[in-house]
Amino acid sequence: MSDECKVTGFTPQQMARWPHVHKHLTGTLELPNLESISEEVILNIGEGIEAMLKTEGPTSKQLKARAGLFQHLKRTLERRFKNATLQQFGSSESGLTLQAGDLDLCLQFKGDVPAKTLRQVNRLLKQHDMEDIVMLPRAKVPIIKFKDERTKIPVDISINNTLALHNTELLKRFSACDDRIRTLILAVKHWALRRDVCDAASGTFSSYAWTLLAVQSMQRTNPPVAPILQAGKERTMVEVEGQTYDLTMGEVDSLVLDPKNNQSIGELFVEFIFQYAAAWPFKDNVVSVRTGDFVTRKSKGWKYATPRAEKAILMEKKTRLGLHSLPIEDPFDLNHDLSRVLRPAGALDVQEELFKACMAMASGERWGTIVDAKHPDRFLPVEEFDLFADLRTQSAVEVAALVKENTTSIEALDERMTALTEERQHNIKMSRALRGTIEETSDLRNELRTIVRTLRPRSQKMDELQKQRDEINKRVGLPLYRINELLSDVYLQLTGEIDLFQVPSLRREEDQFAWFFELQAMHQEATKAQDAHQAFIALLKEQKAAVRSLKENEKEQQKHKTELLEAEPMLKDLDLNFSDAMQFDKKAHKLMKVIDQRRQELRRLRREKGRLDAWVRISSNPSPHKGNHRGQKGGGKKRTKSGSADWKPRNNGPRPEEVQARAASGETFSLSDLDILLNSGGFNSVTQKKTTAKSSRRQERKKKANARGLTAHRGVRSQSKKGQKD
Ligand code: CTP
Ligand code: MG
Repeated sequence: MSDECKVTGFTPQQMARWPHVHKHLTGTLELPNLESISEEVILNIGEGIEAMLKTEGPTSKQLKARAGLFQHLKRTLERRFKNATLQQFGSSESGLTLQAGDLDLCLQFKGDVPAKTLRQVNRLLKQHDMEDIVMLPRAKVPIIKFKDERTKIPVDISINNTLALHNTELLKRFSACDDRIRTLILAVKHWALRRDVCDAASGTFSSYAWTLLAVQSMQRTNPPVAPILQAGKERTMVEVEGQTYDLTMGEVDSLVLDPKNNQSIGELFVEFIFQYAAAWPFKDNVVSVRTGDFVTRKSKGWKYATPRAEKAILMEKKTRLGLHSLPIEDPFDLNHDLSRVLRPAGALDVQEELFKACMAMASGERWGTIVDAKHPDRFLPVEEFDLFADLRTQSAVEVAALVKENTTSIEALDERMTALTEERQHNIKMSRALRGTIEETSDLRNELRTIVRTLRPRSQKMDELQKQRDEINKRVGLPLYRINELLSDVYLQLTGEIDLFQVPSLRREEDQFAWFFELQAMHQEATKAQDAHQAFIALLKEQKAAVRSLKENEKEQQKHKTELLEAEPMLKDLDLNFSDAMQFDKKAHKLMKVIDQRRQELRRLRREKGRLDAWVRISSNPSPHKGNHRGQKGGGKKRTKSGSADWKPRNNGPRPEEVQARAASGETFSLSDLDILLNSGGFNSVTQKKTTAKSSRRQERKKKANARGLTAHRGVRSQSKKGQKD
């Protein structure tokens, strides 16, 4: 507890991570003056930057690889989404790119964006073997990130990122104004990358934010190096996604900056650091390339909300930084503050690095020290990718064994795929058949249900009536007709003429009256019993009719079931219900997933087959140019975010047949030839081919298909027909 700073509350670890910020917060940081930076330091920084441009700028091979990848993705996505175009933006479009830069692409739709576009893109990318795919559907602009499997070039594809296309154009125009603008932007990006403060995803500034900071610093030099490109009376207002933006952008040709600034690139870098470190403008200002100078926080209404970085860092780890911490206005989306992505630690890192660079310059440090990598392991030089590294040490016999193993695996997997696909199709067929019959018999089943529903209550009612009848009969003891007879007898006796010689005694008369009333009561009860009996009989008839319909209905259903079983005997143990059909659907779905996995595995094996075949060919027929091909160790190349392998789309360049013919004749072939060879089924398939009338007809057809843009392409190429979805 007592280790924490009394003033800032920083722990020893925090003080060690942000020593300059900590001093600044305690009021003990003494920042140097810009004038105190020696000529020698400025010169060294200038030289360092020039050298860096040569080593860190993308090589022509990398640029070619990016262009190839872009073309491949463009073809693939535009074929899938007919009302969209794939466009480049960001550094690869503006030219403000280092080797580490990514490929920013925008899928721009002309009309409505179809539902689940990102998911569909995701599927397509998987089919084309892209790696590390991450979808960010809820980002400000939906985005999908991935790496090309072969070249490792990182790619971002965003959907309808219209403003980004415009701000890329703005940056392009800035860099066309003066070479120093492009150079300083690259130097700043390089410094920020090496010092680990250039990654929006981890809570520091994005490359784009650093670019704007660099441009603003050059707008603020005296005289300015960078112009204000968004000035002018005539405004260009454009509606984007229902909102109107001022996209005014001056033409570079018409710009003459007078007087001209003559500062060297070294001076401009030093000034960049000083403008943001020593002056720390963020307290009251917002960086605004649009206006060419800082604008006040007040004018934008962008107060630094709490918690501020130095307080937020003391709170829970997940505490979010208050809005507008180090505010940078987007040149077109004026409500967008690029510091929105900063996290507390990231904001402190940015400040620390600016202070640190400033102090380093004052104490005469060299460029190499200023841009010393904070995490050197991320910038390690790596050997150039050797496609045959593992095979070089193997004997011909061992390689032959590998080829055999690979062939066996492909055959086995092929068979497995066929079986899986058949099983899946069987499940789909069963589900369809079952569902079809279920549909057909749905009226019958409804009728059956209605009939069955009446049986039970009717039977209960019958039981009740029966019980009622029997109870009465038991109590009364005489049937109704007999009661009627007796009643009429007694009545006659009571009401008939009296025989004067046989006048009944009073007692007898009383008995007869009692008997008469008793018979009347019995009559009433017996009538009830008879009614109950008749109701029972009526219900019995109904019940019998219902059972008859039931049997007919079942017979009818059985007829459908028999027809179904004749068509699909496998369904014999199943009832005609949806849950059974769903079981088939589920099974088919599961099998689909397994098939997808197997398909990928098969693709890998086929690629491996191509590689092995090529190696067999190369090692048995050494080429005079062997030292030049990809297989040789390049040494000393740096691993970059974009990788170092050359990218060549499988359909560009020479046709597989040409390469195959060349390889078969023993001629040497280039790296890209080798790539085409690997992707066109390997070497074995090549050597066996002869140009026949049929094959030339096929070639002719292929040519026509190519002309229509129906070329076979990478990824999908290796799918076996059996594995394709129905
Ligand atoms: N962009 C944006 N708003 C952001 C971040 C980026 O509009 N908050 C757009 C800009 O058009 C920018 C592009 O996305 O040019 C690419 O961003 P990013 O990759 O950060 O910049 P790059 O200049 O491409 O940097 P790098 O070379 O490192 O890829
Ligand atoms: Mg980029």
